[in-house]
Amino acid sequence: MGRDARSFYLTTPIYYVNDAPHVGHAYTTVTADAIARYHRLAGFDTHFLTGTDEHGLKVQRAAEANGVTPQLWADQTVERFREAWRILDVSYDDFIRTTEPRHYHAVQELLRKVHENGHIRLDTYEGLYCVACEAYYSDAAAQGADCPIHGRPLEMVKEQNYFFALSRFQDQLLQWYESHPDFVQPQSKRNEALGFIRHGLEDFSISRTSLSWGVPIPWDAGHVTYVWFDALTNYITAAGYASDLAAFGRLWPVAHHMIGKDILRFHCVYWPAMLMAAGLEPPSKIYVHGYLLVGGEKMSKTKLNQISPADLVADLGVDAVRYYLLRGQPFGPDGDFSYEAIEERYNADLANGLGNLLSRVLTLVDRKCGGLAPGSGPGSRLANVAAQACADTMAGWESFQPSRALAATWDLVGATNAMLEDRQPWHLPPGEEIESVLGDALEALRVIAILVWPAMPAGAEQIWQRLALPGSPASAVLPRDAAWGSYPGGAKLARATPLFPRRTG
Ligand code: MSP
Repeated sequence: MGRDARSFYLTTPIYYVNDAPHVGHAYTTVTADAIARYHRLAGFDTHFLTGTDEHGLKVQRAAEANGVTPQLWADQTVERFREAWRILDVSYDDFIRTTEPRHYHAVQELLRKVHENGHIRLDTYEGLYCVACEAYYSDAAAQGADCPIHGRPLEMVKEQNYFFALSRFQDQLLQWYESHPDFVQPQSKRNEALGFIRHGLEDFSISRTSLSWGVPIPWDAGHVTYVWFDALTNYITAAGYASDLAAFGRLWPVAHHMIGKDILRFHCVYWPAMLMAAGLEPPSKIYVHGYLLVGGEKMSKTKLNQISPADLVADLGVDAVRYYLLRGQPFGPDGDFSYEAIEERYNADLANGLGNLLSRVLTLVDRKCGGLAPGSGPGSRLANVAAQACADTMAGWESFQPSRALAATWDLVGATNAMLEDRQPWHLPPGEEIESVLGDALEALRVIAILVWPAMPAGAEQIWQRLALPGSPASAVLPRDAAWGSYPGGAKLARATPLFPRRTG
């Protein structure tokens, strides 16, 4: 997408509604949120989508076990996700649920189109099946040939299923990858996807007769769509496919998917082929990140190592959690999540870095300037640092590398603190010199408040208010409003409690 396209559509995976939100889900969603917020600041007409995946056997089972309908079960459990995103300041524009009528409509239209184009056929699916689960087990479970839930032997069962002719799309996919070298990022993940495609593709089953909780196949109501055909379609449902042509024309060409590496094959191989089969373009880009591990392992229900974002926020505050998720590890490789690492980051960058800068400047304005803010003057040494920090921060967000963006913003935090150490305003008498030092520091804080807003909207608002600036950093436009020299001065500023009090042990 060129910068002049001015529209930006960003999606997260839709999460299984049955699971409780954990820090792994929060990692994707907060990262996407910060990138969406950055695009709003940069003036893009931004549409940010998240949501929940609500069909399938697991949901059907959980509902039965709880004595409610699957719809009611989904209606109750979806709230956990909405609540987690509320607590984490996630600013989605749309929340899609696969049980919504708009989604049924889009899935059925897509199926119809792909069927019409001759890429769906009825065939026999043969697999190892557990009668108690009413489910097929492939790969891992099949190796032991016992059901992982019931421990009883799996049976070889045949069923009529509809199949999507993925194998026909190998050449088209390879051509797409070749002509769109940035389609999947980072490069290592692109290579992984290409590896799957080159290895050869098999048609995959897209329907079940043994399942009832899902979208019916439009021409054969005995079948419901199975898992991926249903789930992936959410991205076009929400963009207006088969309902709002104008919206679809605007949003779909600028669609950016953000996903974890566990669902790379579905997004980077199945999905573009499904779209091609319907005569649609693949999305613009797919960004694939690694896992956030706990003690070197993936978070999972069975290992009981899932950490709830709400608990973390209650303990550390929303800014500390968001900052850590974004700054703690580069986007792409796996990262290790630890409580110690959050605290270390918090103390170094937020308490000692940004928080300390704000506190010492406000204290000095109070003590040396009678609480009246000096304005910023031209020709500060910090002006160049601020311009560079702004350019690098923007480049970091634009390339989906939050940790780089934040490191660049912190160059300005560091340079401003270093400027204070150098000029020692606490030893200066009231007068012009101290006013120019503090005016520069206040201006740097104004720029920092704008630059950190995508990562820490609450903290950025706080800084803005403490600087007595009108409006909100949310309405700033980058890079225009980060240009040096517009802190007005003259306002009465108050000393305040530290924004990020240091945490001990
Ligand atoms: N419902 C499917 C996705 C359908 S998208 C059309 C699904 N849901 S999920 O609830 O299992 O969520 C998977 C996503 O959650 C991952 O792709 C990733 O974005 C995020 N994560 C879950 N655990 C994670 C970590 N431990 N670390 C990082 N991200 C993790 O799959």
